[in-house]
Amino acid sequence: MKYIFPKDFWWGSASSATQMEGGYNLNEKEQNIWDYWYEIAPEKFHNNIGPKDTSKFYYKYEEDIELMKNLGHNSFRFSISWSRLIKSDGSVNLLAVDFYENVINTMIKNNIEPFINLFHFDMPMYLQEIGGWENREVVSAYQNFSKKCFELFGDKVKKWFTHNEPIVPVECGYLGEYHYPAVVDFKRAVQVGYHIMLSSSLAIMEYKKLNQGGQIGIIVNLTPSYPRSNSEEDLKASNIADLILNRSFLDTSVLGEFPGELIEFVKEQDLLPIYKTQELEIIRNNTVDLLGVNYYQPRRVKAKESQVKDNEPLTPESFFDFYDMPGKKINPHRGWEIYEKGIYDLAINIRDNYKNIPFFISENGMGVEGEEKFKVEGRIEDDYRIEFIKEHLKWANKALKEGCNLKGYHLWTFMDNWSWLNAYKNRYGFVEVDINNEFKRTPKKSSYWFKDVIENNGF
Ligand code: BG6
Repeated sequence: MKYIFPKDFWWGSASSATQMEGGYNLNEKEQNIWDYWYEIAPEKFHNNIGPKDTSKFYYKYEEDIELMKNLGHNSFRFSISWSRLIKSDGSVNLLAVDFYENVINTMIKNNIEPFINLFHFDMPMYLQEIGGWENREVVSAYQNFSKKCFELFGDKVKKWFTHNEPIVPVECGYLGEYHYPAVVDFKRAVQVGYHIMLSSSLAIMEYKKLNQGGQIGIIVNLTPSYPRSNSEEDLKASNIADLILNRSFLDTSVLGEFPGELIEFVKEQDLLPIYKTQELEIIRNNTVDLLGVNYYQPRRVKAKESQVKDNEPLTPESFFDFYDMPGKKINPHRGWEIYEKGIYDLAINIRDNYKNIPFFISENGMGVEGEEKFKVEGRIEDDYRIEFIKEHLKWANKALKEGCNLKGYHLWTFMDNWSWLNAYKNRYGFVEVDINNEFKRTPKKSSYWFKDVIENNGF
């Protein structure tokens, strides 16, 4: 064997509540922004499939966790649905407590460590109605929600994450039209980003107060930015992309401060959010213990080729263009670039510029549209996924050998799940979910290959 991983390496997969639970209105769950958006605009969702009964983990979690165990996984990340746990009057939904307690207990019984994330794009609608992340009160509501989760489940759960990909609700909800409320307004986006960052620090503060002996972190989609060339203009464009889209949350979560250059940029563009000096103190004093890093594809950047028009709204892309690099390797089933070395580059960046903080690959994966065409005698033969994981793991292994503090690798995702506006279009799971046949689970070829990797702690 050539690629050996450390003992106790975290092998598993990741998911999120809205994407796999289903039971969207069962047992007193409130609406979140996805339930609402689907109600008013179902045509936005691929094949008109909404979040009502996604993958049915809510009903089948025992079977699913047993399957995880049989496939050798030692850890699994999921999220707690805020709108399931906390009712609109602020009280705790005891039926939701039962559900999450059962999930956690079943995982522990099967030797699978629960990694819990608190926010994966699913704002309760009753809070969105008062402005969502734009409203400082919602930050306090999140702080209370996080505290409640630690109190309820912190005796058993020792790995917590405040947010998944915190830049995504900013980008997709306030700078693009992929998440509700789907507005394009840079100033509001900056306020949302600032409040999400503050909420993360407040949750960390609450967690530390309770002294529960676990670790708390954040999960960032740390997409490395690569400039088209070394020209001054391309380097500048790549730097600004990196600053807004990576360093905004990464620097602040790990080092406790918004990058000076970002503050300058925001001031120059007249985008400063409303903030209080004491809040900056909270951010400074409550940094993460652990980092989750989601990596799918690189961000290739070039200097802007045309002037931004006067009537165009300002967005991050007013300052750079995406670069379509000739000859790049592509996942033809999703259209995303595959660049395995990106995993190594981001690991080295964390080692050298972020105090070599412990981190793990919290999502990596390959989406495939129309994956049923790869079915042979009832099983999806996903050799492309095996290849994809293997090549990324080789670079992860090299990073480990060079002193990076890499703790684990989670695939997105365990079983095919519903992915926001893309619904069930792109399949990512180790396990096929047949949405036309009672959501039947069938492990794909890659799940058995991964099981061997886990058993051997390498390949
Ligand atoms: C990740 C998100 O960035 O991408 C997931 O954390 C999402 O929630 C995944 O499902 C895949 O996205 P898509 O659009 O290819 O289905």
